[in-house]
Amino acid sequence: MNRFSEFMLPPQKSTLAEHTDALFNFVNVTSIILLAGITFAIIFFAWKYRRRSENDVTPVITHNNKLEITWSVIPLILVMIVFGWGLNGYMNLTTPPADAYEIRVVGKSWLWEFHYETGHVSVNELHIPVNRPVKLIMSSDDVLHSFYIPDFRVKMDVLPNRYTSLWFEATEIGESVIFCTEYCGTAHSNMLARTYVHSAEDFITWLETAGSADDDLPPAELGEQLVVRNACNTCHSSDGARLVGPTFQGLWMAEREMQDGEVITADENYIRESILEPNAKITAGYQPVMPSYAGTLNDRQIDAIIEYIKTLSN
Ligand code: CUA
Repeated sequence: MNRFSEFMLPPQKSTLAEHTDALFNFVNVTSIILLAGITFAIIFFAWKYRRRSENDVTPVITHNNKLEITWSVIPLILVMIVFGWGLNGYMNLTTPPADAYEIRVVGKSWLWEFHYETGHVSVNELHIPVNRPVKLIMSSDDVLHSFYIPDFRVKMDVLPNRYTSLWFEATEIGESVIFCTEYCGTAHSNMLARTYVHSAEDFITWLETAGSADDDLPPAELGEQLVVRNACNTCHSSDGARLVGPTFQGLWMAEREMQDGEVITADENYIRESILEPNAKITAGYQPVMPSYAGTLNDRQIDAIIEYIKTLSN
């Protein structure tokens, strides 16, 4: 059965995975057996009771108690097994252990933000310890998203104005992909993130040092990294290509027409405002879809991104 799971499903990297897969495989295998059996029976009886001569007349059959009870009770038993098994799994999924490590998750169009107890915020990178229950408390800043880690077998809708949560315990050090599985607009398919599972010690080290390496970088270089780390590049290219938002290339000090006809110069204040209050000014020809980075990026990081954009002027 394990071989079958490996062939059919992603690797099992959480404590929840085995139970989920066992139930999935049970439903799958039972369905395949029933499908084969019923198909065989239909073909067999169609052949056995085929019309052989002009005088063949089917006798009048009203009912058959034994047969009808059999075909009602067997599916009932199967459904009850699946129900009990599923309820057990559901209860487990919805009841996080009391000592679970909590991380706040915010879904935005189109990125995932993770807030840790230290105040550190990471974008599109979820760092967690191995062999320890982790509880995610999630909400959305705009539209409906859905948080999905196939390797852990967890998926939950992420809604605006309401918290949802899920928990899991990773069993292996390594990386796993996070998807958004609710269609949420233009860059939905780019709303990807990654889970990094660390050993307990490495996780503590990561928590303590996260972001501090940035201090040693020259601002423009840091900005270039931040643009990738914060998923700015999902919507803004650095090479002139038109994505969801305007390109960064040649943006610095350019004269830009806004939706309301006003012409602005893309200076520090404009870029800063666009990062913190993206909907204050919308470039003509684009949609007001950018999420605010207030609380995600600090002043130093905003400065660094501005420095990076300056290097892209031509
Ligand atoms: Cu967020 Cu799809």
